[in-house]
Amino acid sequence: MGRNPTKLEAVRADLNVRGAASVALHPADLNDLGAHPVMLEAAQTALGGLDAALLAHGTLSDQSACEQDVQRTLQELQTNFLSYVSLLTLLANVFEAQRRGVIAVISSVAGSAGAAAITSMAARRLAKPPLPAGCGRGWKKQACRCSPSSLARWIHP
Ligand SMILES: NC(=O)c1ccc[n+]([C@@H]2O[C@H](COP(=O)([O-])OP(=O)(O)OC[C@H]3O[C@@H](n4cnc5c(N)ncnc54)[C@H](OP(=O)(O)O)[C@@H]3O)[C@@H](O)[C@H]2O)c1
Repeated sequence: MGRNPTKLEAVRADLNVRGAASVALHPADLNDLGAHPVMLEAAQTALGGLDAALLAHGTLSDQSACEQDVQRTLQELQTNFLSYVSLLTLLANVFEAQRRGVIAVISSVAGSAGAAAITSMAARRLAKPPLPAGCGRGWKKQACRCSPSSLARWIHP
């Protein structure tokens, strides 16, 4: 899933070279939160179910521009935070219902560093590890492993 069909086709070609049994592409702007449920249903149908999900979309904020423009800051949070809240919630429910699944999220040291020069990036990063962890530990009461670095995983035994 991604918003650039040309890049998606490149990913398809790469996965085919690596021996993928099948590849399904779904062009989507992940800022469209309302489309997430349909998108996940399409993925489940096309792939015959879901075993794992890797969330790796994001933008690198222009800190100076965000400081001058609230709408731009909110847009960055939409892409890098709220879309993750939405997708993680939906994926956690799918995996909980089937009692198995892996969610991988690429976060960043920016979330723990909290450097003043990158507050717009740090703010959104802070939420990424706790969200997948929360899916497993508190909210969903399922087994969860959350690595100390940039990769957070939610997994059933
Ligand atoms: N590179 C690093 O040093 C680094 C460090 C820490 C964490 N990370 C994280 O690792 C992940 C991948 O980073 P990367 O360096 O590979 O970045 P990247 O090359 O810029 O890839 C990010 C991807 O996210 C897509 N994207 C952005 N907004 C989207 C939206 N609204 N809907 C759908 N797709 C959207 C972009 O699509 P378009 O091509 O259409 O723009 C792009 O393909 C990100 O979550 C990033 O924050 C990266």
